[in-house]
Amino acid sequence: MQNFELYNPVRVVFGTGESKNIAKHVKSLGKKALIISYDDITFLESLLSDIETKLVDIGIEIITFYRIKANPLLCHIQEAIEICRKNEVDFCIGVGGGSVMDSTKVIAAGVLFQGEPWNMFVSRHDCSVSIPPEKSLPTVMVPTLPATSSETNCTAVATNEVTQEKAYVSAPILYPTVSIIDPALTCTLPVYQTAVGAVDAMSHILEAYLNGDQNSPLQDRLHEGLLVTIISELKAIIKDPLNVDHRANMQWAASLAWNGYLQSGLNATTPMHQMGHVLSALYNTPHGVTLAIFIDSYFRYTCTLNSEREARFALLGENVFGLKRDGQNNREIAEKTVDCFVQFMDEVGVPHTLSDANIPSSDIERIADEIVAHGCDADGMLPSIPKIGREGIITILQMAI
Ligand SMILES: [Fe+2]
Repeated sequence: MQNFELYNPVRVVFGTGESKNIAKHVKSLGKKALIISYDDITFLESLLSDIETKLVDIGIEIITFYRIKANPLLCHIQEAIEICRKNEVDFCIGVGGGSVMDSTKVIAAGVLFQGEPWNMFVSRHDCSVSIPPEKSLPTVMVPTLPATSSETNCTAVATNEVTQEKAYVSAPILYPTVSIIDPALTCTLPVYQTAVGAVDAMSHILEAYLNGDQNSPLQDRLHEGLLVTIISELKAIIKDPLNVDHRANMQWAASLAWNGYLQSGLNATTPMHQMGHVLSALYNTPHGVTLAIFIDSYFRYTCTLNSEREARFALLGENVFGLKRDGQNNREIAEKTVDCFVQFMDEVGVPHTLSDANIPSSDIERIADEIVAHGCDADGMLPSIPKIGREGIITILQMAI
């Protein structure tokens, strides 16, 4: 395990029905709030109306910004920042999934940021050095989709619609002030979206497990435990979508998957996310689907690259899927581990190929160029163990067809 510094100040309020107590959790944050949610709020209408009423009842003036799209756009973030400045908003509330919560973080910090908010982001497009935000309005998150851990971490992702680049910003000031995690809000979430969100959470665990420090047995066991939980709870939710206990276990597992504690000491890289962001930026593919594509193809490419990879994937398969040795070597078990992940994604109905996601295979060269431009290091190598160059990226994309 490597040296690390950990700081996570998020006040988490977790439990069935806790969203109804939002007033008591936000009343000290100010007198004027911007509530942020999706451009289509059909599924959230009663929740948003309830939150609006509860805030007005305690004398908080509210302004709503229901314009955020999945794969959030910089232009909407800029628009909301101007609304906050013009109306002298005291704090921001994000009600929705990762796109809404990420946007809420950038909006709240953007209000107090000097210059363009895109300057906060780690962008390879213009080779600029990102300027991390140091101030932010308080933020309150009410997650409605278990997936990104945005409610418990200090990272946000957005797409610059002009450069077609999906980039991230990470800074301690972006930790939410309060996150009200109410699993009852996810009971009506369609099974498909639940499954895609679960695959995103799994990918966060798998990135750290496969591409972080390999001598951290405690972190390994924590990661394996989360994977086992997400896999079993997702299957249970598919059978019984309204069961709030299963929803609660799924939501807490997703919140823990990328909140800093499990990544501590690993110094992990995120090659699947670097490649996935390119697919989202070019084709607006849902984030979880882009990760499913690379859980399939990147895993099959990398699991037998060398003996260390074979051993790592074999360990993963033994501890998550209960694969038995039965005289098999690491390579054989590693390949079976990947088969288990692919079978799981088929079982829960998550697309995991380029063709499933309507991404043309004729675009592979272009996609690879974008990955090298935006997702690779200065030497053009994808930060994976081992590092992968353009040729390898092309092979991964061909395996994803
Ligand atoms: Fe993700």
